[in-house]
Amino acid sequence: MNAVQERVSALRARLNEYSYNYHVLDKPVVDDAQYDCLWRELVELEQTHPELVTPDSPTQRVGEKPAAKFSQARHETQMLSLENAFDDASLRAFDSRARARLERPELVYTVEAKLDGVAINLLYEKGRLACAATRGDGTVGEDITVNARTIRTIPLALRGAALPARLEVRGEVCMDKSRFDALNARQQELGEKTFANPRNAAAGSLRQLDPRVTYRRPLQFFAHGAGLAAGAELPASHFEILRQFEEWGLPVTRGCVRLTGITACIEHCRGIAAQRAALPYEIDGAVIKIDDLALRHTLGAVARAPRWAIARKFPPEECFTRVLDISVQVGRTGVLTPVARLEPVRVGGVIVTNVSLHNQDEVTRKDVRVGDEVGVRRAGDVIPELTCVVRENRAPQSQPFSMPTHCPVCGAPAHKAEGEVAVRCTGGLHCRAQRVQSIVHFASRAAMDIDGLGVKLAEQLVGAELARDVADLYRLEYEALNALERMGDRSSRNVLQAIEDSKQARLDRFLYALGIREVGTSAAVRLASHFTLERLRKATINDLLALRDIGPVAAQNIVDFFQNERNTAILDKLLEAGLCWEQTPQSEPATLVGKVFVITGSLEQLSRAQARERLLARGARVSGSVSAKTDYLVAGEKPGGKLARAQALGIEVLNEARLLAMLQ
Ligand code: IVH
Repeated sequence: MNAVQERVSALRARLNEYSYNYHVLDKPVVDDAQYDCLWRELVELEQTHPELVTPDSPTQRVGEKPAAKFSQARHETQMLSLENAFDDASLRAFDSRARARLERPELVYTVEAKLDGVAINLLYEKGRLACAATRGDGTVGEDITVNARTIRTIPLALRGAALPARLEVRGEVCMDKSRFDALNARQQELGEKTFANPRNAAAGSLRQLDPRVTYRRPLQFFAHGAGLAAGAELPASHFEILRQFEEWGLPVTRGCVRLTGITACIEHCRGIAAQRAALPYEIDGAVIKIDDLALRHTLGAVARAPRWAIARKFPPEECFTRVLDISVQVGRTGVLTPVARLEPVRVGGVIVTNVSLHNQDEVTRKDVRVGDEVGVRRAGDVIPELTCVVRENRAPQSQPFSMPTHCPVCGAPAHKAEGEVAVRCTGGLHCRAQRVQSIVHFASRAAMDIDGLGVKLAEQLVGAELARDVADLYRLEYEALNALERMGDRSSRNVLQAIEDSKQARLDRFLYALGIREVGTSAAVRLASHFTLERLRKATINDLLALRDIGPVAAQNIVDFFQNERNTAILDKLLEAGLCWEQTPQSEPATLVGKVFVITGSLEQLSRAQARERLLARGARVSGSVSAKTDYLVAGEKPGGKLARAQALGIEVLNEARLLAMLQ
C-alpha cells in the first residue's frame, strides 16, 4: 500500500468511527469542524485518485443519478409478520400455547418496543452492505439499496472480524417525532407535500427515486432481528444476537430486556406503554419474543406469523385541542355535514386538523362550540373522533352551533326529511359540491379506480365546466386538461389513460360508482351477479327484494334512480362512450353464506376492499359496524374501537392469516 492509499484508509476508518459514535451511539467524540476537515481531505484525495474510491467509503453514501424505478429484490429468508394481541389475556393464551407445544413450565422472553416505521431487510456480504429491500410481500420486496445507503446509521461495512459471509439484518426505518415535525414545517414552507405521520414520512422518503432526496430526510434505522446468517454462527439467543449486532456497529432496538415468564413481560409492556408519549419515536406496541432460537425453530410459524413472537398493541391515544371553527361540507348526495376545524394536534401518530361532527343531532348532543377545548381520539388509521368537550374552559360568550338554512355552496334551501337526521341541499346536480363529489366517488378506488382523479382535479373540472357529470369524463381532451392549473403534460396523459382504462369496467364496480343511495359495494356485487345492466334498469321493487342484502329502502332507491331522466341520460352517455364489462365471476364456492363479517384495521396481504370482495364472493355479508349479529371481526394492523366492541360482545376475532385460511 502506498502512502496515499494508507492515508485514504486511515481517513475512512476515522470518519467511520466518528460517524458511528455520533449517529449510532449518540456520543460525539469530535466537533463538526474536526470532522469536516478530515472529510474534505478524503474527498480531495478521492478526487485526485478516483481509482481509490470504494463503494463503502463514507463519501459514497449518496448515489448521483435518480433511478427510473425500483427493481425487485428477493429476501433470502421470508420476512414474517406478527400476530397481534390487544389485551393481557391474549398474551397469556400465547404463552400457554407455546409452553404446551414446547412442554416447558416457563419460557424466557425478550421484550422490546414495537417501532412504528417501515420494515426493511439489509443483506451484508462479507461484511459489506450488498442490498437493502423493503418487506414487500415478505418474499420479494423493492430494492432500495441506494436509498438505504444514505441513512447514516446503516453501516456500509460492518465492524470487527469473524463476520458472516452473508447476513440478513431485519429492522425498522423510522423518523423521530421532532425531526418529523421539523421536516413537515420545512415542506410546508416550500409549498411541498406534508406527511400525515412519521411512518408515512419514512416510507415516502425511502421510496424516493432520487437518493439525494432520501439523504436529506432524517431517517434512522434500528435492527430487531436476523434472517439468513451463513458462514458464521450467530448466538443461539435473540438477546445475544442484538448484542452481537451492536458489536458489528449496527443500531438495534433500544431497551430490549430478557425476562422469565409471561407475567414479567406483561408488566414490562405496561412500563413501555407508560413511556410511550415521552419516547422520541412513535411506537404502536411492544413485541414479546421467545429468546432461545432452538425453541423458536421447534415452534415454527403459521401462515406469515411465527408461533414464537407476538405484538402487544397499545390502545389509541387521546389528545386535547381547540375548535377553531365549525364549517359545513356538502356530500355527494347533498348531505350537509358539520366539520370541526381544529388547532392541529398529533394524536396516535397523525396530525389531526378536522373532525367530522356528523350531523346536527350529534353537535347538539355534544354541544360543541367554536372556541371549545375538546378531546380527540384516533386509533391507527381509523378516522379521528371527538370524544368530549371540556366545559369548564368554555368562553362565556360562546354560542351553540346550528345548521345553515341554505346550502353553503350553491345557496339552495337545505331540507330535512321526516324521520331523517340528515339535512340535505336541494340543489341536486346544480350544486357544484354535489357534482364534484359524484365525480370523486365515481373515480374512487372501489368504484372505477381512476388514478389521479381526486377532489382537487374534480373541483377544477367542474369549475371549468369541463365535466358537468361523470359521463363528461370520457369526453375530456388533452388540451383542455393540460390547460388546468397544476396539470402538467405527464399528469394529463396519465389521467386520460386512467379514464380510458376504466372503460373496461366490472359491472359491480360500475353500479357502485353510479352512487345510488344505499347501494354500497356489497349490494353492488349482489346486483351485478343477478342482473345485467339492461335487466337492472327495468327491475321492479319485487325483483330487487328477492335478493339477499337488498332491503326495501335500497330497492326503492334503485328503481327511482333508473327512472330519473337525468340519470338515464347520463347512463346512455356512458354506454355511448364505450364502457363495457364482464359479469362478476361467481366461481368461488359459497362456503360462508349467512356469515356476517366486519373488517377493521389495515391488512397486509389484501386491501380491505379485496378482503371484502373475496368474502362476498363466498356468500358472506360484510358490514361496516359491529353488532350482536356480527359473526366475525377481521382485525388487521391498528384496529379501532370496533375491536373493543367485538370483544365486549364476545365476537370471534380473526387475524389476517385466519381470514386467508377461511378463504382458501
Ligand atoms: S420482529 C417475526 N421486532 O412490526 C418477527 N418487529 O407487525 C418479525 N416491528 O413487520 C418482526 N418493531 O416491521 C419485530 N421490535 C420489533 C419491531 C417489529 C416493529 C414491525 C416489523 C414487522 C411488524 C409486524
